[in-house]
Amino acid sequence: MASLVRHLRGAAVVTGAGGTGIGAAVAKGLARSGCTKIAITDINSDTLNQTKMAILDINPEVQVFNHAGDIADEKFVDSFHEEVFSKFSRLDYAVNCAGVLTNPVKAVDMPTESFDRLNDINYRGTWLSSRAQLRNMLRPKTLLVGAKERGSIVNIASQLGIVARPAAAAYCASKAAIINMTRSNAIDYAEDGIRVNCVCPGVIETPMTTTSPEMVKALKPAIDIAPMRRMGTPDEVADAVLFLCSPQASFIQGHALVVDGGYTIN
Ligand SMILES: NC(=O)c1ccc[n+]([C@@H]2O[C@H](COP(=O)([O-])OP(=O)(O)OC[C@H]3O[C@@H](n4cnc5c(N)ncnc54)[C@H](O)[C@@H]3O)[C@@H](O)[C@H]2O)c1
Repeated sequence: MASLVRHLRGAAVVTGAGGTGIGAAVAKGLARSGCTKIAITDINSDTLNQTKMAILDINPEVQVFNHAGDIADEKFVDSFHEEVFSKFSRLDYAVNCAGVLTNPVKAVDMPTESFDRLNDINYRGTWLSSRAQLRNMLRPKTLLVGAKERGSIVNIASQLGIVARPAAAAYCASKAAIINMTRSNAIDYAEDGIRVNCVCPGVIETPMTTTSPEMVKALKPAIDIAPMRRMGTPDEVADAVLFLCSPQASFIQGHALVVDGGYTIN
């Protein structure tokens, strides 16, 4: 179970938080780590509601703000983050997990509409969310007691932003974009006391990787060549995210932390 020894006080926002994937594990991990103001969003309102209930099971005192919407929609992203700030009057942690993966497809077989939708969610959605979160973190607020920083953003990229695999060019490129956007925002906002990092998961057991038989088949070689030869769990990724959010990571800036069972070293 993901949690931290040090408490994460303040307010957090998590995108892609519905269901049983990485975002939901992060949202629950924040609740276990003592965070009592948690805003969650996802395109799926049913699974988002399930995450809300799971958070309240962990700690009924948590103020949970949930609002479903499309992360690729600028109006939704901006209004959601405005609502978060008006409810909590601050933003200390932001974790951008919303993302999609298409079934294996080589470039000449990929319709432009699929390419655009994938990038609208993975790259544009993370960019829109980061922009709204940076705006909120830059607003005047009382720093948390003992804190040296205004906020911490963690974007979920992928091992496939660092290395490539067959029939996933658009996905790999969308995740490489997130890694370098993370570095650039880390440079631009360090002087404001905001840390920006990303986590690059390997193959993790979530609905994204386990729902389609075609996907399970396509990912098997990636699991087999990673030294640890297994899928990771959403909680193993959430633990890395919570660490990067925390004051224990106070000198880590613009980093892409791989959580991949050794895949990218092989
Ligand atoms: N599972 C893996 O092996 C793996 C590996 C590397 C990176 N990732 C990344 O981790 C993140 C989380 O993925 P996951 O594995 O937990 O999969 P998941 O499918 O369980 O979670 C993704 C969530 O994003 C939501 N989402 C999809 N489109 C959206 C949209 N337009 N607006 C808002 N929300 C939307 C989905 O409803 C879902 O709840 C993704 O960015 C994914 O690319 C996953």
